[in-house]
Amino acid sequence: MGDKTIQVGDELDIVAARQAGRELSRSLGFNIVDQTRITTAISELARNIVLYAGKGTITLRKVKEGDRFGIEITARDSGSGIDDVELAMQDGYSTSNGLGAGLPGVRRLMDEFELKTALGKGTTVRIVKWLRKNI
Ligand SMILES: Nc1ncnc2c1ncn2[C@@H]1O[C@H](COP(=O)(O)OP(=O)(O)O)[C@@H](O)[C@H]1O
Ligand SMILES: [Mg+2]
Repeated sequence: MGDKTIQVGDELDIVAARQAGRELSRSLGFNIVDQTRITTAISELARNIVLYAGKGTITLRKVKEGDRFGIEITARDSGSGIDDVELAMQDGYSTSNGLGAGLPGVRRLMDEFELKTALGKGTTVRIVKWLRKNI
């Protein structure tokens, strides 16, 4: 459903990816708090691409499952891969002091989190946030 892929190689691209995530999540009806969760997660993944792989892509997509809608974000790179995923996913391992608190933070901010990595081949992180129905 209307994928949008942003090439990510520097700080400006991170801003562009955030912006695109903000726009799509707003248009889907996510509230401000969820929009911020989503853009924070995008920032973290995009920054990891720039820092550890040099370049890659962020793909944004509207997803539907049954009667619910959501946003799916896929961060892909062909960098070195993550040596020790268990360690990388540990709280407190993150060296950044950003709002998102690294990969464990991204997992907490989103509803689904899937990380695939292969040494010397690259890393793909796929995250999803579902829209809650207002009742
Ligand atoms: N796309 C990536 N490619 C290679 N290594 C990565 C990638 N993303 C994360 N890593 C590794 O996983 C570690 C944890 O990432 P993260 O939780 O974002 O914390 P931080 O970036 O603050 O160190 C990083 O220090 C890095 O070694
Ligand atoms: Mg990071």
